[in-house]
Amino acid sequence: METTQSPRVLDAPIAHGLEGIVVAQTKLSHVDGEQGRLVIAGHDVEQLAGSRTFEDVCALLWSLSGDPAEHVVELLGAARMKAFAILPLLGDALRQPVAMDALRTALSHLPESASAAQLVGAAAVFTAAWQRTQAGKAPLAPNAALPHGRDLLAMLGLDASPMHAAGLDAYLVTVADHGLNASTFAARVIASTGADRVSAVVGAVGALKGPLHGGAPGPVLDMLDTIGDSARAEDVLRAQLGRGERIMGMGHRIYRVRDPRALVLERAVERFESELTRSNAANGDTRQRLALARAVERSSERLLAERQPSRALRANVEFYTAVLLEALGLSRELFSAVFACSRMLGWTAHYSEQRATGRLIRPASTYVGKWPT
Ligand code: COA
Repeated sequence: METTQSPRVLDAPIAHGLEGIVVAQTKLSHVDGEQGRLVIAGHDVEQLAGSRTFEDVCALLWSLSGDPAEHVVELLGAARMKAFAILPLLGDALRQPVAMDALRTALSHLPESASAAQLVGAAAVFTAAWQRTQAGKAPLAPNAALPHGRDLLAMLGLDASPMHAAGLDAYLVTVADHGLNASTFAARVIASTGADRVSAVVGAVGALKGPLHGGAPGPVLDMLDTIGDSARAEDVLRAQLGRGERIMGMGHRIYRVRDPRALVLERAVERFESELTRSNAANGDTRQRLALARAVERSSERLLAERQPSRALRANVEFYTAVLLEALGLSRELFSAVFACSRMLGWTAHYSEQRATGRLIRPASTYVGKWPT
């Protein structure tokens, strides 16, 4: 077909990666990348982690998003029981070898009507059941009376002492929400189409799986294992960068200083380690791991500053996530799924916020392909 008109294309500047583009208003959380500050529901993350429970943070966020926010311990307990009851209906979902794939498939079995609490409860049950299935063991039933994080440890067959539960809770609180990160944006895009909450969080799990987002903490531990001894850190990291590989757990799209969650989680490991010492439990591994992580962080910072002097590349949340979750006994294959167990809270709150106020999110592209001749 012959065209008589010259093609018309949008020639607006392209916001690759959507950096600096504001597409929503939110009351849920605020990330200040210059100051290194994270505010969740009106509280600095440092105030929340270690002093408020995951259930408290659920109540804070859901009361802002209009989701049921009363009696959260009971809501989540009931949600875990309900999710456990449907495990037999999941078919082979839990046999998938990658936890995030299993979680994505399992969640999509939930009915469209699933509430925010049901999704948070289900994420923990499915994650724990995946781990047990992979180990050739039967899933462990939840205990609805326990706090959510403590029950997650118990369902994983791990030490669920109050000390361990407090460590996991500090993590769940710290990563529950974080502005318009990639997976939350994915959830909001899906919410903006009018689709159901389950579809939104299934999409979000897919986004979180990527190594540039929630897939980094496992590789952080692999890197610490490869380095082994802090004296080797500089050489190993230099070689890694020389091969064009990124250092996992370093750098962030928004933060121009150290991610405040890195400090919160580093302190949580420190607290856990000293409580282990006080209770005379074996703690050598955690102490050594923390020392190695700190040395690797320092070397990484130095090398990245050499290579990118104009761009501060500092530790992000994933760096000490890896150290904390390992200290609590979680295997690295579970890290991203446990991240999803917490971030499910943020996704559900953003879903409701987007549905209440949002307009279809539909950006534009500039066509650079062939035109019909
Ligand atoms: N290791 C090595 N180089 C890195 C790096 C890292 N961890 N993070 C960023 N860089 C480099 C980039 O390659 C880029 O270099 P270039 O300009 O020569 O291409 C430069 O630093 C600037 O990158 P930037 O624009 O700040 O990164 P981004 O916003 O595109 O990416 C991340 C942010 C998080 C994806 C990135 O820092 C990264 O890949 N980190 C490792 C993965 C990780 O820890 N993910 C968890 C995030 S919470």
